Amino acid sequence: MTLFDAFRFDGKRALVVGGATGMGAASAELLQSAGADVVVMDFADVALPGATAVHVDLADRASIDAAVGQLGGPIDALLSCAGVADGTPGIEKINFIGHRHLIDRLLAQDLLPRGSAIGFISSAAGLGWEANLPRIREYLATPDFDSAVAWVAANGGADYLSTKQAICAYVALQAMPMMKRGIRINATCPGPTDTPLAQANKETWLGFGADYRAEVGIEAATPAEQAFPLVFLCSAAAASINGITLVTDSGYFAAGVTEVFPPATDIANFLLGRMSG
Ligand SMILES: NC(=O)c1ccc[n+]([C@@H]2O[C@H](COP(=O)([O-])OP(=O)(O)OC[C@H]3O[C@@H](n4cnc5c(N)ncnc54)[C@H](O)[C@@H]3O)[C@@H](O)[C@H]2O)c1
Repeated sequence: MTLFDAFRFDGKRALVVGGATGMGAASAELLQSAGADVVVMDFADVALPGATAVHVDLADRASIDAAVGQLGGPIDALLSCAGVADGTPGIEKINFIGHRHLIDRLLAQDLLPRGSAIGFISSAAGLGWEANLPRIREYLATPDFDSAVAWVAANGGADYLSTKQAICAYVALQAMPMMKRGIRINATCPGPTDTPLAQANKETWLGFGADYRAEVGIEAATPAEQAFPLVFLCSAAAASINGITLVTDSGYFAAGVTEVFPPATDIANFLLGRMSG
């Protein structure tokens, strides 16, 4: 035993939802490397040797219930990674409502014991949640999958930015009730990261912040570079961290809001909800 073991996952069980490709796959691999027994839930086939694969469609409540039924025991870390881009039917379910339902099922079945942690992947696109909190609070007051879907159908929000703001607000709103159960919940807000999803939307996703990256001499993040902070947030080493949305964008937003990099100022303030556009 060393002090550094708090960063590891020996003897722990981790569930990565959306772990077939991209940041989720990198997180699953990292968790294994840190000693965890890893279960991956995804819509797509899972290639990671040694991981238990469970099929799930986050757009389908019954599929989530069936997947949770196959879990076969409690987990110490839940990494909620799956997400899709604007234009995907059911985006509100896949990016948020399905993840929330899965968490609700895990809680109802006591599969997230005291000491466990939840780590969502949100996005820098979700950082403006505070300015929309009254509206999002009303949305998140919906008690279950179907009522949340109905709320979005009536009020809007089936778009990438809204789903990511919902995640950030959910993490903040759940910090205290989760902590009462001994569970921590946090999220990362990645900037552009070179994954299959970003490649499929290359112009908008990887074009974002390209001027900043050229100026500071870096590339878009790798999936592993996003997995490191996400896995850390779910480790015992992050015991004091709860309810935060950690910006993992290599400093783009910081440079924008402070006007250190003026080309990023308007977009950063807009996405942070500090101006109307
Ligand atoms: N890549 C970026 O630049 C970037 C930036 C900010 C945030 N994000 C977020 O990071 C997360 C991971 O995305 P990624 O870039 O690694 O992309 P990715 O496409 O490689 O990973 C997403 C995973 O979600 C799974 N998935 C999609 N629809 C599903 C469904 N209906 N049910 C179950 N699983 C489903 C996919 O099969 C895939 O394994 C997403 O939430 C995304 O919004 C990405």
